[in-house]
Amino acid sequence: MEPKFIKQHHPELFSWKELEYLINIRPLMTQKRSHILFEEETYFKWRSTGWQKDKNCYPPTLIRKLIEENICYFTDMSRCTEKINSFAKNLEDEYEHQTDAHIYMCRNIELEHPFGAHFDTSHNVIVQCEGTTNFKVWNEVDPKSNYTKMTPEELPGEPVLDVEMEPGDAIWIPMYYPHLATSRTKRLSVSFAINKNPLKEGFEDRAWVKI
Ligand SMILES: [Fe+2]
Repeated sequence: MEPKFIKQHHPELFSWKELEYLINIRPLMTQKRSHILFEEETYFKWRSTGWQKDKNCYPPTLIRKLIEENICYFTDMSRCTEKINSFAKNLEDEYEHQTDAHIYMCRNIELEHPFGAHFDTSHNVIVQCEGTTNFKVWNEVDPKSNYTKMTPEELPGEPVLDVEMEPGDAIWIPMYYPHLATSRTKRLSVSFAINKNPLKEGFEDRAWVKI
């Protein structure tokens, strides 16, 4: 994969309205799938009713507060809509590796991105869905270099990409390429993470059930 940026690659991939539908399905909002980026370790307690099969799902009143105040992302979302499932399938066909979709959102733009400039150990294709985010991408670094978050000044040279992502725009970030996302407005994006390891378990079942 090479770093690249395409404007208006997928204008209708996902929206706040579609996210609203998903986060109201309480059984989907498991603690394993919902990642809330707190500055310090935070614990919550809530009551569950007898009908709930999985007690470790965030209650809607709490998740509404958490998403307004924190940066959050939801993993294991590659089948959450037909469009996202088919985008993931296209990437799996092209790169021949398993692909997940992570839904990222930031509704509090005062927050500094907790990851800072960092690199990932998977290729990522990110589609901006709502709002504006500045993305900077630097050239590949040695994977053994400092893995913790870096400031842009610590990175070698100028970014190879420095783009304002608007809804529909997409960016390709290869593994080991440091990148920094800065939300300009409230934003929603879907990040497709392409596993670097060869397939062991096979691909996700991408059949879409139609009634
Ligand atoms: Fe990343």
